[in-house]
Amino acid sequence: MMVSRWLAVAAVMMLPCAAVFAASDRPDPRTLMADPEQARADYVEHCGGCHGVTGDTVPARLPELAGRVGWFMCTPAARAYLIRLPNVAHSRITDNAQLADMMNYVVFVIGGSSAPVGTRPFTADEVARERPLALTNANLTAERDRLTRQLVRQCHAPASIRDLYIGAKP
Ligand code: HEC
Repeated sequence: MMVSRWLAVAAVMMLPCAAVFAASDRPDPRTLMADPEQARADYVEHCGGCHGVTGDTVPARLPELAGRVGWFMCTPAARAYLIRLPNVAHSRITDNAQLADMMNYVVFVIGGSSAPVGTRPFTADEVARERPLALTNANLTAERDRLTRQLVRQCHAPASIRDLYIGAKP
């Protein structure tokens, strides 16, 4: 009786510790943005209409960002793709630091834990470099195809990253 009660108390006491240990593998995503509130507001205004406030548009015919967009941070080319997307590169947000912050919100908050541990956040300089190389709707599909093959091969991303839409038939 005493032993089982002790075990129960010990288990309860260990729970928060386990959570702290798991969380400490990754920095708090808010520390990766200069202004997390602005970044979130920008995402909701400029992207949320199509992708949903939490990045989860299923079953709409839109790519699901929630819990998976961070995989694109795994290779330099796939990381550049996120900034070169037409809706991102041509965004009405002209300030590159502000756009970098918003994309960090997309990757590290909407993407959950999908970005590899230790991923560097986007910077204004990186956004400034990639924006002029915007993809067009003509080359976007082929580029995504090439990049997601690499994500599966090199980063062991789940094969479903190859599908633009969850549940899409190849
Ligand atoms: C008008 C609707 C619309 C808006 C607004 C929009 N997107 Fe998209 N997004 C799409 C569609 C559709 C695709 C699929 C590729 C394509 O056709 O451009 C896409 C693709 C993406 C992808 C690639 C996902 C993948 O798995 O390859 C990301 C990341 C993304 N959008 C982020 C954003 C961000 C960030 C914003 C805000 C700046 C934004 N989108 C605004 C419709 C939209």
